[in-house]
Formats: sequence, C-alpha cells, structure tokens
Amino acid sequence: MTATQAAPTTGDVVLEAENLTKHFPVRRGLRDLFTRERKAVHAVDDIQLTLRRGRVTALVGESGSGKSTVARLMAQLYTRTSGDIRLHGESVTVHGGRKFRAYCRQVQMIFQDPFASLNPVHTVRYHLTRALKIHGRAGTNSAELEQNLRDLLLRVQLTPPERYLDKFPHELSGGQRQRVSIARALGADPKALLADEPVSMLDVSIRLGVLNLLRDLKERLDLAILYITHDIASARYFADETLVMYAGRMVEGGDSETVTQHPAHPYTRLLIESAPDPDRLDRVGDPKDAPADEGGGEPPSLIAPPTGCRFHPRCVHAMPKCSTEHPPRFELPLVDSGQAHWAACWLYEEGAAK
Ligand SMILES: Nc1ncnc2c1ncn2[C@@H]1O[C@H](COP(=O)(O)OP(=O)(O)O)[C@@H](O)[C@H]1O
Ligand SMILES: [Mg+2]
Repeated sequence: MTATQAAPTTGDVVLEAENLTKHFPVRRGLRDLFTRERKAVHAVDDIQLTLRRGRVTALVGESGSGKSTVARLMAQLYTRTSGDIRLHGESVTVHGGRKFRAYCRQVQMIFQDPFASLNPVHTVRYHLTRALKIHGRAGTNSAELEQNLRDLLLRVQLTPPERYLDKFPHELSGGQRQRVSIARALGADPKALLADEPVSMLDVSIRLGVLNLLRDLKERLDLAILYITHDIASARYFADETLVMYAGRMVEGGDSETVTQHPAHPYTRLLIESAPDPDRLDRVGDPKDAPADEGGGEPPSLIAPPTGCRFHPRCVHAMPKCSTEHPPRFELPLVDSGQAHWAACWLYEEGAAK
C-alpha cells in the first residue's frame, strides 16, 4: 500500500468490535406456536469497527439501519448475539455490576435527546457530582469537588460555571443541555465516547458549536469518538473516518473525505444525493458508475432481510449475483488521501483480484 499518511499503530486502538451481531427475538404469535421457526430482527450483522485515540469515526446510515444498536452493544448496554468487543485489546463482556462500572469509566455514551437523559428534578450540580462520585473523581473535600465541577463545565465551554451549576435542565437551551450531558460523560474521564446522533435534536444554528466542542475534546483529551449520524455531510466535516451502514450491515468505509467525495457503494451515493452538500464536487464519473439515480425503494424488513447484498432490491446496478451472494469487502483504488477505502459491493470485484 502506498500510504502517504502515517498509518495509526495498534497501540492507538481503544475500542474494537469484531463480527458484532445482534438479533432481537420477535415475540411469537399464536400462529407461530405450531411452527418451529424462531423469528428475529437482524438489527446488526457482522460489524467490524475500530475506534482509535484522537480520532472521530462516523457511523452513517438511515433510520433503522442499526446504528444505535451498534452503540449500545459497544457500551455493553445490550448483550450481543455473537462477535467480540475489545477494550485496549482485551475481550470484554459485562452484565451490570462492578465490571460494568469499570467499563463505563472508559467508555461513555452520549444520547440524542439531552432532555430525556437529564433528570428534570435535579440540577446540573447534582448530575455532575453524581458522575464524579460514581467514578471516584469527586475529590477528598468540598473545595476539591467544587473545583472539579467547575473544571467539567469549563471543559464544555459553559462559562462562567457558577451561572450553570444550580440550573435545572429546563432552564437551559438544548445546546447547553447537551453540553451538560457531555460534561457528565467526561466526569468519568473516559477514553472513548459513543455519541449517538448527539446534535440531531438540536437547532441547526447550534449544531456546529457542539460538534466543534467534541472535536476540541478529541484533540485536547485524545478521545476516541464514535459519531453516529444520518447526515453524511456532517461526517465529512467532523469525522476522520466514515463507515456507512445499510440494513444492519456495513457497506463502505474509508477516510471521510474519500467516502464523501468518491462514494463507491450505490447506497452511499444515494445517501449523498439526498443530503445536499454545497461543497460536493460532482465527480461520480467512473464509467461503471452510472449516475446515482437510485432514488426509490424502502429499507427492507430486518426480520427476513434480502439474501445476498441487502441493498440489491433497491439498487439499479444489481446483477444476478447480488441477490444470492453476500459481497465481501473489496479494497478500492486509493484516491488523494492514501488511506484505505473499501466497499462491500460486487461492482468492485475485479478490484479485489488485483
Ligand atoms: N430493543 C429492540 N427490540 C427489538 N427490535 C429492536 C430493538 N432495538 C432496535 N430494534 C430494531 O433494530 C433495527 C435497528 O434499530 P436501531 O439500532 O435503533 O437503528 P438506528 O439507530 O440506525 O435508527 C430496527 O429495525 C429496530 O426496529
Ligand atoms: Mg438510532
């Protein structure tokens, strides 16, 4: 590989998922009592994901594609059907209790709706004190606690801290509430943040501020961040690497600039077409890349997902093979960044043979 940028070393890996799979059993109806078939929602199938220190990895896909399930699996909030999760190289499976707390100290999650994740009857001070205490970082006396609370608010740019400490969630704006949620996550002094659509419920005008804050934290605290979004344009702006999910499977990945400017998988192209990005240069001109005109169709049922490539019923490039054989990852020719780029699509099969 002619990588022009230094490839990250394995020492940088904070959190990894290998072949991560989650099937939710479907409650059996009366009719199903007479069949042996056990139905399940195939929410996440065979996901590979690596989060590295000081890097943002975006996980992009439409609603229902399994993004939140991936985040909850990585946070150990769901038990997985199969696969492995490694924290600093060590395989971890926890179900609550002390081990779960130790895991949370390193891996924190930020949810979409900061109003729902903060308790309306408690102040900012209460939420942050609790986080610091749970993770043993409250200090030894009240002066130290006060200083630690101030530091958390300063870190999320809520200044002066005194103005916010005794406020209730309803006295804050959406952006300020999300900053408090981020401060609470930082109370654990984590190594990885899993941010599940952290700005999608916020006004457009304040989204950028919160994304810039996360970027600042990534740089200053060397955090590994998983940024989940349905907005691929924001992934280009904010993430170092972008992974695209469709119907529970990953279909494309690479550095964000390449994936958003030279999308390879027909689904990624569809996503980009439907998310206007004024800066996007229309360079989808490869001869085998017919115009990305695949506009129709609905995401498939995940109880009986399509065979082969899950996108084939909606894909204008679908070949006979696409409906029968699941495409592996094919490495794509390197574009400007010199970083690996792959797509799970039979269109790129010859590329793999090279
Ligand atoms: N607790 C659950 N029980 C059953 N099905 C679920 C559960 N959580 C999610 N699902 C299903 O899994 C699929 C993926 O959901 P989700 O991970 O929330 O997607 P996204 O975050 O991309 O919108 C959806 O079909 C959803 O209905
Ligand atoms: Mg979700």
